[in-house]
Amino acid sequence: MSKTKSQYVCSACGGIQMKWMGKCPECGEWNTLEEVVVRAPDKSRTPMPIGVTGSHPVALPHISQESMARLPLKMVELNRVLGGGIVPGGCVLVGGDPGIGKSTLLLQMTAEVAKNYGPVLYVSAEESVHQIGRRAARLGIKEERLFILSEIEVEHILEQIEAMKPMLVIVDSIQAIYSGSSTSAAGTVSQVRDCAAALLRAGKQYNIPIFLVGHVTKEGTIAGPRVLEHMVDVVLQLEGERFHAFRLLRSVKNRFGSTNEVGIFEMNESGMTEVLNPSELFLAERLPNASGSAIAVSMEGTRPLLVEVQALSSHSAFSQPRRTGNGVDMNRLLLLTAVLSKRVGMDLSDQDIFVNIVGGMRVDEPAADLAVAVAIASSYRNKPVCADLAIMGEVGLSGELRSVGQLPRRLHEAAELGFARALVPRSVVTRKGGEDLPKEIEVIGVRTLWDALEIGLIK
Ligand code: TYD
Ligand code: MG
Repeated sequence: MSKTKSQYVCSACGGIQMKWMGKCPECGEWNTLEEVVVRAPDKSRTPMPIGVTGSHPVALPHISQESMARLPLKMVELNRVLGGGIVPGGCVLVGGDPGIGKSTLLLQMTAEVAKNYGPVLYVSAEESVHQIGRRAARLGIKEERLFILSEIEVEHILEQIEAMKPMLVIVDSIQAIYSGSSTSAAGTVSQVRDCAAALLRAGKQYNIPIFLVGHVTKEGTIAGPRVLEHMVDVVLQLEGERFHAFRLLRSVKNRFGSTNEVGIFEMNESGMTEVLNPSELFLAERLPNASGSAIAVSMEGTRPLLVEVQALSSHSAFSQPRRTGNGVDMNRLLLLTAVLSKRVGMDLSDQDIFVNIVGGMRVDEPAADLAVAVAIASSYRNKPVCADLAIMGEVGLSGELRSVGQLPRRLHEAAELGFARALVPRSVVTRKGGEDLPKEIEVIGVRTLWDALEIGLIK
């Protein structure tokens, strides 16, 4: 038999309280709370639901807008990825490989929220209070309203949330906590799901934003099967290579903003520092007249990013030459070498080809094709690419260049970084008539890869 319990629903705004109050804390109306008896879900059979139970329909104009107000952050990179700030009651899942910097980034964020908005509860299920204290000291964080709780049982965490009603709750990590009332073993998918559901419910009920940290499994998914991704409002993924300082925070799903936004950070001794001018940083160590280096303009979400593509083509000692790509898609690399051989007539059959995107970046969009192909050709012919040239375009199987999206933005960024000329597919220029393209940069439209090499490589 399942248990029953009482909740108090506001007839004006539909908000749910656990105890009776004269004034609804959400909409401020008096004497509107009414008792409803709800049946606790039968945990032994059904998984815990995410939403609230026993709620009443609310007329749209009566829904208070206040509860949707965001808490904007001063960390602009994080703020943009979140869609403009932290949404009260929203649940954010932050995934990433172990050691990539999730705890560090979240601790920095909690410090800001504690300073500007109110108390924050940081629950660590993996580290002791002392360990977090040491990390905070290292990061120079001394906020009084930041509370650390080292705890693994979800019921106890919920009690603390209920007692404290903080402005923000972090649970690091969701895989390490367990529910005493769940029958399955700790760390299993159903445990992770039940714990996340219980935390989500509490977040929605008290209108508190909850950030859950999830480790990525070997297959690249967060917390086993992607159950959590469906449950939460926002999924952020922190990526980067261990030996590079850059970290990319991507929004994979966002019910409160646009997806595919990227925040760029650098991990250094003072934690995660925001990189506000990433293109400049990526190009800082470039040798302008070296062969095999081309500048691509790729889009990360709505933001253009200039990256250096390096290629090395060298005579192979093996009968089967090697093709190695770092930060580029292997299939596209093979395709581009085939197009260079067949359409441009370069004999790459005895050449080992290595392609690398500088700074540990990854560019998967086809708009980087042309820069990769030009870099390979430049290395093969041992002729540098013109140093003032930014390159963008997709390469087709016939060696034709195909249009890329958001060209004006890409061109603006290239112009801003001092590039005088841009090599782009001709179709974009003729189709648009060139009227919305920036005037500060000379736009050169080319039809084929062959033509691009004629213009792009120094003779
Ligand atoms: P951490 O945030 O613990 O990663 P995660 O929570 O994703 O597992 O970060 C761990 C790494 O970050 C560790 O190798 C040390 C490094 N680090 C810095 O380089 N600078 C710093 O200021 C801090 C706190 C950590
Ligand atoms: Mg951690």
